[in-house]
Amino acid sequence: MRKIKTNDGSYTFLDSDIKEVYNPLYGAVKRANDVYVNQIDFAKYKKLRILDIGFGLGYNSLCVIEKCIQNNIKLEIFAIEKNSLILNEIESLVISQNLINSFDILKKGVKLKKLRTDNINFKLEVRNASNIVKNINDKFDVILLDPFSYVKNKELYGRKFLSDLKNLLDEEGFLVCHNSNPILLNNLIENKYNIKKYKIKEYEYGVIASSFLKLKLGEKDEKLAKAFGDDFKIDGKQFKYDEI
Ligand SMILES: C[S@@+](CC[C@H](N)C(=O)[O-])C[C@H]1O[C@@H](n2cnc3c(N)ncnc32)[C@H](O)[C@@H]1O
Repeated sequence: MRKIKTNDGSYTFLDSDIKEVYNPLYGAVKRANDVYVNQIDFAKYKKLRILDIGFGLGYNSLCVIEKCIQNNIKLEIFAIEKNSLILNEIESLVISQNLINSFDILKKGVKLKKLRTDNINFKLEVRNASNIVKNINDKFDVILLDPFSYVKNKELYGRKFLSDLKNLLDEEGFLVCHNSNPILLNNLIENKYNIKKYKIKEYEYGVIASSFLKLKLGEKDEKLAKAFGDDFKIDGKQFKYDEI
């Protein structure tokens, strides 16, 4: 693991086995806000239940905690991370002064794996998300799905996994992911999610998915996604793109 300062002054790590950074170099905190936190309409909630998958250095949860403190919202976070090595690095992060109170809460939660205060209920499972989501009994308002790239992290884009996640969404709940590749879109469509893409920056789009909210994907994206869902044959055997 190599520690790197990003352009907004927050830190990330390069995983030399996976050969990817945990957070983009233009800013780990900026990214958490632009991609995830800004998709949530905090004015709607008195209580917010978040499932944070791929918790990593915890920036997404950190920024949600900060918003909930500012807006006086009760918050429940269920975080899942399979790599304990990255969790150990959280202690070493240097966080800007405006996030320091939220960071203290986050650090305590990560250390204890469970933390309950008057307004925040935090729980962290250090496990493979694909093994545990089917056994979670809670419902969530928002699922923050933050995997590495598709090539490195296929299990978090998989059809069965997304089906398990759909069962965890409350009626008006939605899932946010920074990636909108056609295989993910197709797997969401196959699970009958309503979906829409949103712009992160030039040439980069995320996806919001829900079973209840009326979201609409453009015709071009829908066609492309469906093309990736078509079965095809290798040596006479039937495959789908996400099975290879
Ligand atoms: C792009 S990083 C996420 C960064 C993180 N959200 C943050 O704010 O720092 C992807 C994270 O997903 C975790 N991950 C990958 N596959 C996983 C799985 N099957 N179950 C749980 N966590 C997983 C990785 O270990 C990594 O921490």
